[in-house]
Amino acid sequence: MESLPPVHLAVIMDGNGRWAKARGLDRFHGHIQGVESIRSTVELCIENGVRYLTLYAFSTENWGRPDEEVHSLMELLCQCTVNETPQLKKQGVRLRFIGDLDKLDDKVRESIHACHVETGENDKLQLILAVNYGARNEIKEAVKKITEKVINGDLSTENITTDTIADLLYTADIPDPDLIIRTSGESRLSNFLLWQAAYSELYFTDVLWPDFGREEFEKAIENYKKRTRKFGLINNK
Ligand code: FPP
Repeated sequence: MESLPPVHLAVIMDGNGRWAKARGLDRFHGHIQGVESIRSTVELCIENGVRYLTLYAFSTENWGRPDEEVHSLMELLCQCTVNETPQLKKQGVRLRFIGDLDKLDDKVRESIHACHVETGENDKLQLILAVNYGARNEIKEAVKKITEKVINGDLSTENITTDTIADLLYTADIPDPDLIIRTSGESRLSNFLLWQAAYSELYFTDVLWPDFGREEFEKAIENYKKRTRKFGLINNK
């Protein structure tokens, strides 16, 4: 039987800075080249039947980087959402965002909102950008909402299930990632989709994100297809 590709692929795009440094360039050039890898990964997802692609673009911890880098990443995000909207529409890609967007500048929020609205009808691929995203923060917010419901008498503690929590996460209507890829030789999740990753397959590659192209994508997908997913059950094959 032909193995299926992941329905939901999530990527921790790491190594932009090292890619730039190795070429004697400013870190920002690594992020710009990283956008090229995003473009090609979107195309490869469509070609391979992946339905959801979540990319870790900016974490709650990334605010601690030098102001200049934070500023240029935010600028890049604005530029990309504005410039890429026509192409995303042509490709049938719906762009969505997860994370605490209230903390972003008005300009950034406006540009991402416009792209979100303009691509809202598309259904070939959902491209989900995690911006000011941190899984612990996401879970904390869900806990706060549940606590409020319990205090208000709208929910009893016996009725709190794992679905109650999942339904209050940013990803409430998105299936859990089947495969999470991290580039650049680091082997950790770094506060990315911690709840949703409970049964995700993990794939780590030494390739830096700006060098992540067709060959690496196909290698990761082929590797995933060979895996047996048991979800805590036994293998009946
Ligand atoms: C990790 O590389 C990458 C990021 C923190 C940002 C990811 C951003 C992009 C791919 C560019 C597109 C951006 C947006 C906002 C659409 P790193 O800087 O940690 O690399 P290093 O570990 O080699 O220093």
